[in-house]
Amino acid sequence: MTRPFRRYSAGARWYDLLSGERWVYRAGRVAGIGLMDLRPGDIVLDLGCGTGLNFPLVRAAVGEAGHIVGVDRSADMLAVAQGRVRREGWPNVTLIEADAAELDIVDVRERVEAATGRPGGVDGVLSTYALSVMRGSAGEAWARAVDLVRPDGALGVVDMQPPTGRWRILSPLARLACAFGGADIQARPWRFVARDAAPGSVREAVVRGGHIVAAVGRLPGPDALTVRS
Ligand SMILES: C[S@@+](CC[C@H](N)C(=O)[O-])C[C@H]1O[C@@H](n2cnc3c(N)ncnc32)[C@H](O)[C@@H]1O
Repeated sequence: MTRPFRRYSAGARWYDLLSGERWVYRAGRVAGIGLMDLRPGDIVLDLGCGTGLNFPLVRAAVGEAGHIVGVDRSADMLAVAQGRVRREGWPNVTLIEADAAELDIVDVRERVEAATGRPGGVDGVLSTYALSVMRGSAGEAWARAVDLVRPDGALGVVDMQPPTGRWRILSPLARLACAFGGADIQARPWRFVARDAAPGSVREAVVRGGHIVAAVGRLPGPDALTVRS
């Protein structure tokens, strides 16, 4: 029963309905994308984009002049995302089927430039509920995505942990939901943001009884990078 969801293949068309989006997980993406301070015209990489549930929120922030690059290794999840893009009539979304841990940075850079006319990679990277599913390859996937982000660009991770405080009573349910989706509830991938963002730029929101953590920050600016090299 859980296999289609762990592989995000045949179950893809049921994902939006059965993933607990409405009652639980939407709150995390709203918090994370809100904190990212995306600007009109920004190009945003959505790592492990799945069916594109982030797209309406990102699109609302970056507008017509912005661009979304969705990367996912599941053709079935991307097919649902593509359907969403087609229904909404969004011209400014590029979908790439790839294992994020093997993402070809040069190829993505070229595709972004071809689609937007802008060299220099992307203005931000966002990953929601995906790095915990990537498990051992999450670090490599994140590093490749961050390589695509321009200096001072936005970083955002939204992911899961066991509920906290009085909500700990719901831990078995949260663990079941994560197991169902193949996620490691102990992964805490928002630590990548704290590690890679400029000191002082990191902000966090914790929602749904502590089950969801959103962390955002900004890469060091161009001056900081020059000094480091
Ligand atoms: C729980 S879903 C989250 C989807 C979406 N980010 C969201 O917020 O609804 C996890 C997604 O990560 C994708 N995924 C898992 N491992 C991956 C990898 N190594 N490279 C790219 N995508 C991956 C899955 O195919 C799936 O679409």
